[in-house]
Amino acid sequence: MSPRPVPNPLPEIVVLGTGGTIAGTATGDPSLPGYAAGVLSVDALLKDIPAVGRLATIHAEQVANIDSKDMGGAVWTHLALRVAHWLSQPQICACVITHGTDTLEETAYFLHLVHRSDKPVVLTAAMRPATALDADGPQNLLDAVRAAISPNTLGLGAICVLHGRVHGAHDVTKAQSRAVDAFSSGERGSLGRVSGDSIDLWRHPAPEPGAPFPVPNPADWPRVDLLFSHAGADGALLRDAMAASPASARPRGIVIAGTGNGTVHQHLEAAILDAQAKGVRAEIASRVGPLQGGLFDGLSAVKLRVRLMLELVAGNRGSQ
Ligand code: SIN
Repeated sequence: MSPRPVPNPLPEIVVLGTGGTIAGTATGDPSLPGYAAGVLSVDALLKDIPAVGRLATIHAEQVANIDSKDMGGAVWTHLALRVAHWLSQPQICACVITHGTDTLEETAYFLHLVHRSDKPVVLTAAMRPATALDADGPQNLLDAVRAAISPNTLGLGAICVLHGRVHGAHDVTKAQSRAVDAFSSGERGSLGRVSGDSIDLWRHPAPEPGAPFPVPNPADWPRVDLLFSHAGADGALLRDAMAASPASARPRGIVIAGTGNGTVHQHLEAAILDAQAKGVRAEIASRVGPLQGGLFDGLSAVKLRVRLMLELVAGNRGSQ
């Protein structure tokens, strides 16, 4: 068989590194001592996958190198600005981001909501550290590059490519804490799959109401707390937060992961009503998973929190 013709010039993409197990090292299982996320540089990850260089001309930038459990507004703002910077350059056709698995879905949804380009942002990650014998990162990164240069991903916003699947930012969630096939898009299912060098899609993400949102300045991320309703929930955590001093330390919004169909313990509900009376925005999700027929088409609680923060910042800017 003759080798696949290589397009000349190759498409140009940028790979932004943020850390995670994909850039992690360990002598064995990530749960054993010696494991650390976010150790290797994005350049080092790319050097280990020569096939990537045959598909695309790669630019690489280290935006952060953290365990994604520590992700937050400051890195998100920096990341979104770097994505926008690179994608504004005509020769760059897409952005790939290496990330930890633990908060990948929050970062993906944030980037999806602030995205203003037809060029895709493709997030990928790994469950096994880069130094593991059976590391899954190289294949995932290669697949992410395939997705980034595919004409089929134009206009999809932020997508996640993991374990041969293409997931949309709205629905994807980490559903397994150990398995390599850790991500799921629940009952809606993935958007498609990686098939050799091609990307097969069977559905497109739905439009996001209100998007694109402005990227918050690092100091402008509002405090939005996430609360669980559970047996014995008494609202004390929320009442304490509402009593914080100075007043600027109090939450501006709360997301409640309610029971079942988004129901809330009556004592927690009383605290929520008091907070709402003081101007706090409250949104309900379900701790069971996406709320069928719920607000914003079944967003998980963590993603509803991302959306609420962006809505509060956009509302502030609108009222200035
Ligand atoms: C992380 O989320 O940064 C650590 C865990 C992982 O990437 O699997």
